[in-house]
Amino acid sequence: MNTAATAAVASTRHDDILVVTIDNPPVNALGVDVRRGLLEAIEAADADPAVKAVVLLGAGRNFLGGADIREFGKPPQPPALPDVCNRIEAATKPVVAAIHGAALGGGLEVALGAHYRVALGSAKLGLPEVLLGLLPGAGGTQRTPRLIGAQAALELMLSGRHIGAKEAAKLGLVDRVAEGDDVLAAGLGYARELVASGAAPRRTSEGGALADRAATQTAIDAARAETAKKARGLFSPLKIVDAVQGALDLPFAEGLALERKLFIECLESPQRAGLVHAFFAEREAAKAPETRSAQPRAIASVGIIGGGTMGAGIAVAVLDAGLPVTMIERDDEALARGRANVEKVYDGLIAKGRIKPEAKDAIMARFNGSTSYDALSQVDLVIEAVFEDMAVKQAVFKELDRVCKPGAVLATNTSYLDIDQIAASISRPQDVIGLHFFSPANIMKLLEIVVPAKVSADVVATAFELAKKLKKTAVRAGVCDGFIGNRVLAVYGAAAQAIMEDGASPYQIDKAVRDFGYPMGPFQVSDLAGGDIGWATRKRRAATRDPNARYVQIPDRLCERGWFGQKTARGYYLYPEGARVGTPDPEVEAIIDAERQRAGITPRSFTDEEIVRRYLAAMINEGANVVHQKIALRPLDVDVTFVHGYGFPRYRGGPMHYADTVGLPKILADIQEFAKEDPLFWKPSPLLVDLVERGENFASLNK
Ligand code: 3HC
Ligand code: NAI
Repeated sequence: MNTAATAAVASTRHDDILVVTIDNPPVNALGVDVRRGLLEAIEAADADPAVKAVVLLGAGRNFLGGADIREFGKPPQPPALPDVCNRIEAATKPVVAAIHGAALGGGLEVALGAHYRVALGSAKLGLPEVLLGLLPGAGGTQRTPRLIGAQAALELMLSGRHIGAKEAAKLGLVDRVAEGDDVLAAGLGYARELVASGAAPRRTSEGGALADRAATQTAIDAARAETAKKARGLFSPLKIVDAVQGALDLPFAEGLALERKLFIECLESPQRAGLVHAFFAEREAAKAPETRSAQPRAIASVGIIGGGTMGAGIAVAVLDAGLPVTMIERDDEALARGRANVEKVYDGLIAKGRIKPEAKDAIMARFNGSTSYDALSQVDLVIEAVFEDMAVKQAVFKELDRVCKPGAVLATNTSYLDIDQIAASISRPQDVIGLHFFSPANIMKLLEIVVPAKVSADVVATAFELAKKLKKTAVRAGVCDGFIGNRVLAVYGAAAQAIMEDGASPYQIDKAVRDFGYPMGPFQVSDLAGGDIGWATRKRRAATRDPNARYVQIPDRLCERGWFGQKTARGYYLYPEGARVGTPDPEVEAIIDAERQRAGITPRSFTDEEIVRRYLAAMINEGANVVHQKIALRPLDVDVTFVHGYGFPRYRGGPMHYADTVGLPKILADIQEFAKEDPLFWKPSPLLVDLVERGENFASLNK
């Protein structure tokens, strides 16, 4: 019998147990229909004397994926989720949450409103609201500490991490873990036991885990101190701590009211809008047209050419995804180095206690090396990561063309080179694609999928499928010098150089950029990556550079002295005795001064605000060019690139989202103002001009 209250919630009687199934694909988010249906189902269960207990479960792959994020920022529709959770908790009959798949955010809060919880091994529980600029706003900040203690609750809420069923049981977040994959059977079994034993509802709000007040206060103080240090401009983490303080100090109902107030403050903050934009943008970016129009090819084995920085990192990413790797190097010595580069990553993990030595052995059993291309005859996909040199790359692709089986995907990790030219040099351009990883490739999330003119759609779809397997955030890019990321970086990097030559110190620029929310400033990044890389590129391009364009020579002066950054113990900063954080270098400041004199520049002062305004205007303007020229499909693809590959503060959504929050007319006016000094550099993007004329923003192009 189905006594459905709404299409999204169905109630079915199993003898004296009412099973309430939430069915709201794709992830059973708690939209208005689900909230209404849940409320009605619980009320019906309470009113029906034949019902002795209730089981809540989710249809499909998940329990509940949380509040419906698409409703944020729209007028609220009753019932509110906290009221639904309270109503579940107030039920007069035992309510069991039977959890499989995701029970996240509001989804876990519903389970905490229930009286008992059973989880399958597949369960993934968590309170990830902080990642969206929020705090658990349906009783989570009040019930979780009462159930598992303040320390564990704060850790969950401040990290936003997902935990498995076993850990949840250990923490006391769920009562038991059920074997198998039948969530209905697990829920019914538990409910029947409860009915048979005459168990009463057990309310989380009455839980006693905060009884040790002194220990709780210590945990809250520690979390507050740690958060103040680590939250780096984020708004919601400290609000989470405030809400847990409320759980300790206030009766439950008042604690809930405090949580509500803090939740709304977070909901209204621009950070929430930025983080929600980032959440949807990274999912949207993965839906390139080819992923809809073509079937991916099967990838069961991967070849990697080159075992240097990138080849080794990519090998680790591929091995971590469970695939076998065959690495090709120039000679035995280089191959041994490549293998050692891969092993070093796992040895580091062993040293940190993250994996056991046996795990490394099992992973390395999937790693093979060879100096002969013939070892690649059966692989499904090859990723080339040899020197950044067209002739070297073309020679490699010629070999691949010779040995690889028909249909093998042939990818290059080039940073800048023309992939159309690489593709045109072999007999199967339809199989050639760019897979641009970022260093360290096993850690950085971004993967630019660079689509040359002749590649077939199923190869593009395969690349997106591979990205998913490697747990990378994929962005589709077109072929041009630097694709999306490095092309835009070259422009705002030049803006930073110009600001330095005009009068700001690299240290001030780095600080201004960090205060905006970046983990590091551009000169720190240069010192970390090694100044020699950019120097080589500049030398290569010297012949083709526009002689009228401004060229700041300060970095060349440092490189000529062999000051490449951390690896040489000095760059823009000094790194005495292998220090990882640099200190300002008066000699560098003297070199900068000398260069200003040589260029006839009288230095002027900059406010941090002006530095950031110029830096971002350069980034946004080139971002607009990249969209205008269809190198990026939409502004959101630029946003995802910069958030995942270049340290752009996620809570600001990405440069294009940020531009919308500032207002495009203001950005354009800035660029026009800067153009008075250097019209060659500051050319307003036609797309930016067009949007301003039409009164539109970048978001209008994301639809
Ligand atoms: N609301 C609305 N849509 C959601 C959603 C949510 N909570 N969670 C996921 N979706 C959408 C995605 O946008 C995507 O839509 P699309 O197909 O149109 O692109 C679709 O569901 C599938 O999502 P994924 O591709 O991420 O699917 P996965 O199977 O890989 O992952 C998941 C499933 C683990 C549930 C993941 O989607 C996820 O982490 N979701 C967010 C969970 C979350 O943050 N919940 C907290 C919300 S805030 C809250 O609850 C406030 C409360 O305290 C009051
Ligand atoms: P690297 O110099 O560390 O490694 C290159 C490796 O390729 C060396 O081990 C070399 O022995 C090997 N090699 C050279 N020619 C070969 C050949 N013909 N056959 C087999 N192996 C050969 O260089 P890195 O930094 O790993 O860069 C590789 C590629 O990745 C370049 O195209 C670079 O532009 C690109 N890239 C680099 C990034 C970085 O941050 N280092 C980021 C993204 C892309």
